[in-house]
Amino acid sequence: MVNYKVADETLTEKGKEALYIAERKMPVTAKIIRERFTKEKPLKGVVIAGCLHITKETGNLARTLKAGGAEVYLCGSNPLSTQDDVAAALVEEGVNVFAWHGNTDEEFYWCIRQCLKAKPNILIDDGADMIVTAHKEFPELIKEGIIIGCQEETTTGVKRFRAMDKQGVLKVPLFPVNDARCKNQFDNELGTGQGVISAIYGMHILFAGKNVVIGGYGHCSSGMALRAKGLGANVIVTEVDPIKALQAKFAGYDVKPILKTLPEADVILTATGCKHVIPPKAEIFDTFKDGVILGNLGHFDIEIPTKQLYDYAKEIKPLRKHVEELTLPNGKKIYLLAKGRLANLVLSEGHPSEVMDMSFSLQLLMSEYIVKNKGSFKPGIIEIPTEIDNKVGYLKLKSMGIEIDELTEEQYNYIHGYLEGT
Ligand code: NAI
Repeated sequence: MVNYKVADETLTEKGKEALYIAERKMPVTAKIIRERFTKEKPLKGVVIAGCLHITKETGNLARTLKAGGAEVYLCGSNPLSTQDDVAAALVEEGVNVFAWHGNTDEEFYWCIRQCLKAKPNILIDDGADMIVTAHKEFPELIKEGIIIGCQEETTTGVKRFRAMDKQGVLKVPLFPVNDARCKNQFDNELGTGQGVISAIYGMHILFAGKNVVIGGYGHCSSGMALRAKGLGANVIVTEVDPIKALQAKFAGYDVKPILKTLPEADVILTATGCKHVIPPKAEIFDTFKDGVILGNLGHFDIEIPTKQLYDYAKEIKPLRKHVEELTLPNGKKIYLLAKGRLANLVLSEGHPSEVMDMSFSLQLLMSEYIVKNKGSFKPGIIEIPTEIDNKVGYLKLKSMGIEIDELTEEQYNYIHGYLEGT
């Protein structure tokens, strides 16, 4: 029996189309690994719960987990990123889904709890909310050894788990999939980088000639700066890390403190994982350029001080789906994308399938690895094995028909030795 709560079961056919479109572009997740999992069933008898953005790409991850023998439960990792058609289609395929677009905070946690009630053995999180809830409300899953391993998909989640680990309160083996090379160097940089397109879509503006401020110069934000520059924008980067700031400067961007950018910024896009990148103060809001577009691509809706902006605005007018015009007391208008939530997932469909192919291949091979090595992990952060990271890289290259060189024994010994010098 499938357990579920989704928005609209009549959207199934539309969801199947979306899953098909993604499947064709995810050859490692949806073909190479799926075919092997179908034969070998490495996840037989295992219950896997994912708190993930319910997109067509996540749908294909769920399909392959199922093909491997797992019973799969899904809930959304953000109230506005669930694609209701995909959720409906997955239910028809036997995935237990608790997710709908626009759920409240209370409903969000209700969905997480439904997944945890299924006593999952592996948790795949995106932002840490599910695994933190397991610690707080379902400690028996940890104490009784039901949870055998956990995986985290995004930078913000990994940061939360590293903080828990440091304080000695992380009670499960946690694999930070986000930190694998095959994840953050592609998904974060290319996927979120391409998210500037969602920002354009929000108000349908011409980027060329605009002053576009990018908050941060990390994996996601450096990708966003590059794509905005490619579209002809004058890009200004804000940073708090001196090395990242230097990298941005030497890549050809202006670098300034955020407050100095506000009077000239036409668009401000954040992806820092930090709080209040724009300080939440009325006198600072007054310095915005009239007509500025504000968008966030970081995990939580606190990078742009959304709540304080709503409180300060004298008028809030919905303009089109997920765009609001806020009129400030001084008469200036600002355009807020996606209520300050992940603009690339809310205004568009999230990362292109090609990059999610790599992230989700990692999640699949890590799920298999956790099952194979069950019982041998201690609680705490455990880095992703290099062989698995490289395996995904090789499989992706293979799917693209690309061959690369292999180290000879002589070369291997040279780069791993010290005796040969001048
Ligand atoms: P990162 O750690 O590589 O980069 C963050 C950068 O922001 C760092 O260079 C840091 O110094 C800088 N920063 C921190 N506080 C700042 C502040 N107040 N002002 C200016 N710069 C500041 O992290 P990554 O991987 O780029 O992730 C960033 C956020 O994006 C996270 O919340 C992550 O979970 C989220 N994310 C969102 C995705 C999406 O689809 N929208 C996909 C992947 C990650």
